[in-house]
Amino acid sequence: MKELLKRFALLSSVFCLFVACNFEENDIRIVEDFNFDWRFNLGENPGASKLEFQDKDWRKLNLPHDWSIEGEFSEEHPTKPEGGALPAGTAWYRKTFTIPEGWVDKSVSIEFDGVYRNSEVWINGRYLGKRPNGYISFAYDLTDHLNYGEQENVIAVKVDNSEQPNSRWYTGSGIYRNVRLVASEKLHVSHWGTYVTTPEVTEEKALVNYEVTIQNNSRLIKKFKLETKVYDANDREVGKATTLEKLYPKKTLIKVSDIELSNPKLWSLGDPHMYRIVTRIYEDSELVDNYSTPFGIRYFNFDAEKGFSLNGVPTKILGVCLHHDNGALGALANKAAIERKLNILKDMGVNAIRTAHNPPSLELLELCDQMGIIVQDEAFDVWKKKKVKYDYSVDWDKWHKKDLEDLIKRDRNHPSVMMWSIGNEIREQFDKTGIAITKELVDIVKSLDATRPVTCALTENEPNKNFIYKSGALDLLGFNYKHEAYEDFPVRFKGEKIIASENMSALATRGEYSMPSDSIQRWPSAHNVPFDGNEDLTVSAFDQVSAYWGSTHEETWKAVKKLDFISGLFVWTGFDYLGEPIPYPYPARSSYFGIVDLAGFPKDVYYMYQSEWTNKPVLHVFPHWNWEEGKEVDIWAYYNNADEVELFLNGESLGSKSKQDDDLHLCWQVNFQPGTIKAVSRKNGKVVLEKEIHTAAEASKIELVPHKENVIRDRYDLVYVTVNILDSNGKFVPKADNLIHFEVEGGGKIVGVDNGYQANLSSFKAKEIKAFNGKCLVIIQSNGKHDDIKLRASTDDGAMEASIEIETVNN
Ligand code: GAL
Repeated sequence: MKELLKRFALLSSVFCLFVACNFEENDIRIVEDFNFDWRFNLGENPGASKLEFQDKDWRKLNLPHDWSIEGEFSEEHPTKPEGGALPAGTAWYRKTFTIPEGWVDKSVSIEFDGVYRNSEVWINGRYLGKRPNGYISFAYDLTDHLNYGEQENVIAVKVDNSEQPNSRWYTGSGIYRNVRLVASEKLHVSHWGTYVTTPEVTEEKALVNYEVTIQNNSRLIKKFKLETKVYDANDREVGKATTLEKLYPKKTLIKVSDIELSNPKLWSLGDPHMYRIVTRIYEDSELVDNYSTPFGIRYFNFDAEKGFSLNGVPTKILGVCLHHDNGALGALANKAAIERKLNILKDMGVNAIRTAHNPPSLELLELCDQMGIIVQDEAFDVWKKKKVKYDYSVDWDKWHKKDLEDLIKRDRNHPSVMMWSIGNEIREQFDKTGIAITKELVDIVKSLDATRPVTCALTENEPNKNFIYKSGALDLLGFNYKHEAYEDFPVRFKGEKIIASENMSALATRGEYSMPSDSIQRWPSAHNVPFDGNEDLTVSAFDQVSAYWGSTHEETWKAVKKLDFISGLFVWTGFDYLGEPIPYPYPARSSYFGIVDLAGFPKDVYYMYQSEWTNKPVLHVFPHWNWEEGKEVDIWAYYNNADEVELFLNGESLGSKSKQDDDLHLCWQVNFQPGTIKAVSRKNGKVVLEKEIHTAAEASKIELVPHKENVIRDRYDLVYVTVNILDSNGKFVPKADNLIHFEVEGGGKIVGVDNGYQANLSSFKAKEIKAFNGKCLVIIQSNGKHDDIKLRASTDDGAMEASIEIETVNN
């Protein structure tokens, strides 16, 4: 028994490294990574819920898994280009496993972080339940249906994503987030059974209010010691409370305690200090459960005049909206993928994420906690009134209460979460049914967490016409788009706290440039008039094109920046995402809205934000310098920390310029001559930065740039390797489109390729991809082997070739 426990403690500690979770290394509670060795088959598979069903011919795979991303693009798929033009349908997953004899007295449950969609779960042929919502986390108690010892158990999961369309964006299909098996003693802390708040925070002390729910699943009355300890980030014990308790069989106990901490270290954007509160349950001095909850100590405020402040410091919320997909990986939740995405955004100056328009993965929240990023946690894109035929509106009546409750219970201990959003552009804002539903949803949220404001992303900004606003129940008004109206808001919405919940919807393709760059184009320019765009379905990356309901990046940022009462904004979107390929028809299949493209390569406007949202010196000059002789080319520069920028063509000065009034970029018109464009930014006459762009010759070299130095050998970790196509002098070739093949040996395998082109129809799962505007990407995942990863990239004709080695390391 001890051996078994040791084995599982080891497994759980391995698991702990990739999902920061509620247990410790020498836990009595066993949390097993349940992602490995599943069987999968598409289709209805009659009888697959039964224990004896034969699944030996089914495909073997590990979770998380998204079957849609493995498919081929087609306009015919019922998901439509809005949903990513990839297949959906129905499929089954089955996993066969044994449970140690020694667990016979334990409570055992299975936890799913997210299954898209309509999951139904059976254990050994017994039906456990259904969860229609594809973004919600849920658990089932398996205890009464398990076989112990050598006899096998089978978990069967049916996933039904066949009713289409059910989303306005790509959803993915399958068990696309993590799964865990949890075994605890019969007396234990319940699932999501803790709630930590910090009602009083000063420099000298913090009051930690802690609520824990204990469950007695045994048939005996339990007397036990309940010990609560708080640890700081260095694992130093900084607070403690102990009580003696008694709990009757099959009952739960909610215990609330206050613990005072002196000189608390606050969670802030620059220094997101995390604490941990641990409940230990002792029966006759034997430890029977321990449960750890990470939390942070911070206070914040939204003010109707001054906007947002964190720990007393006025702070503009500089956010982006993100959908849940991870580009070429599809919907799968992978910590390394999300971490890369957040790092790219944080480097740009982003300090907040809106989880558009659904509950996020746990990994996103854990990373935002650790990285100091504020989260607006959003529940719904629709209520009872639909946006597309089979969306969540069909499940609204039966499920909205449970889903919203579960979201709050799961996420309310994360210090990064500072706003709950009950919806996005909800239809009910336009009629009086919106009043009652808003009140009901706000009540649900407040009954579980009253420490954060409840907001909703509204489009109707006439107070009398907006019934969600008229409910009077929102703490914080979110408005999408229409920045022109902001100045009037203090009068229209007197005394209200306001945030710009979604903005811009500007459009761009990385590396594409249309001139003149100052002509602003809206899509569509008139109702039903197709976008007058480019034949290759690209959009200029000069910040000059937007959806008609939105604006360019500069237009809205200029408006928000000067209005203190706007607490902040969320740009639509941080990254391009799969689906919603406005403004083009198929073969466009992913969005153009991102500041960063689908592969993770920044578009030029990234540097406008960086120059405005960070203090690091920025000088970004574009476009490329490969044009037809004599063409008049617009050259833009984003810069900061300088008084002026001087531009040179082949050594000759084209003059210095500096931003006037509220300008956010500089522009020169230059007749193209091959050679070098050089920009120099200066402050008080001293050079701050210099940048050069060169006319490139023919493509002749491949440069491989991994996004990190080593990969953990855990079968989860990823390395993203960027391919840059260079000429023989090492200059970037801006229009290169060579087909690049990848071969990987050693400790990794290829799990995705991409080039960021929104109308590219080659598979994300191929081992080759064409460069697009000089770049492409290969994503490699650890395969668990101890060897280093060897990557070789080459062209068909063998003319170009490059190799790199990436070290693999232990956890
Ligand atoms: C908004 C909507 C987003 C997205 C965006 C595209 O109105 O909230 O989900 O569709 O438009 O511009």
